[in-house]
Amino acid sequence: MVTAEKPALPGKLGQLGAVVEEALGRLLPPSSERPESVHRAMGYALTSPGKRLRPVLTLVVAEIFGLRQRRVLEIACAVEMVHASSLILDDLPCMDDAALRRGRETTHRRFGESVALLASFGLLNLAFATVAERGQELKMRRYGTEDMVHHLAAAIGSGGLIGGQALDLESRPEDLDLELMEYIHSHKTGALFLAAGELGAMAADARRRDLEVISRFAKNLGLAFQISDDLLDVLATSEETGKDSGQDEEKATFVKLLGVEGAQALASELLEFAVSSLDPLGRRADPLRQIALFVRDRGR
Ligand code: IPE
Ligand code: IPE
Ligand code: MG
Ligand code: MG
Ligand code: MG
Repeated sequence: MVTAEKPALPGKLGQLGAVVEEALGRLLPPSSERPESVHRAMGYALTSPGKRLRPVLTLVVAEIFGLRQRRVLEIACAVEMVHASSLILDDLPCMDDAALRRGRETTHRRFGESVALLASFGLLNLAFATVAERGQELKMRRYGTEDMVHHLAAAIGSGGLIGGQALDLESRPEDLDLELMEYIHSHKTGALFLAAGELGAMAADARRRDLEVISRFAKNLGLAFQISDDLLDVLATSEETGKDSGQDEEKATFVKLLGVEGAQALASELLEFAVSSLDPLGRRADPLRQIALFVRDRGR
């Protein structure tokens, strides 16, 4: 088995990632409790070494609008639970058929497909239960817990992540079309980045126009993130990324449509656009600018 180094976000972002890491372990049901196999698989998928970029986005956004980290931490963890749930499904033999994830065997390879599927749904439902419970405690004035639940559900439903995953699976290298690629990437990946940003802003009771600034930033960040993922699929090794490389050979990607340099240029352009949308927030949005820089330069 390939064991890639544990990925870490740089500087303050990395510290926030470590805070998330610690909290994820606490939120999991004990693996000594029934159903033990599913609980073990949930823990395996959730606490394996990921970058924690989405929950860090939630924390950073909430902090910009004045909410203390610890008050939004569990909601940020819920975003990571949804992400981990989606990775289990994405790796299944009937989907991308991946062997390696985060430098380890994929969840279905370790626990079998049936347990992996149940663990994915377990994490998804734990995420919604967490948002519903913790949202109540925030006592937001402009938003209700139901807004958070709704935004998260919309982001991952068939109008969001599921829609993107469906068309991704149906796509073939000859289906190269800019509009289709944009649909796939913004749905399968952009939508959860969007929800991560929105939940952070809502938790902090941000004004509607500030929420819109965050939405614009997160949407473009997510799109650029998936383009950089497609670039890594061809440019980096499994040792570097901790997951199977060359997975997209039979799919339509921005790299096939625009070439390596064209895809790099598009990702940079989207990131510049994302960063420019932060202007109304001034210097307090600097941690978001750092996230954009990380996505531009990442090797994993
Ligand atoms: C992988 O996401 C799935 C995509 C949307 C490309 P990440 O690259 O954030 O994976 P982890 O969480 O760090 O493992
Ligand atoms: C998956 O995109 C996006 C998800 C919603 C999980 P990929 O299939 O490219 O992600 P990786 O490369 O396996 O992480
Ligand atoms: Mg996939
Ligand atoms: Mg995949
Ligand atoms: Mg990929």
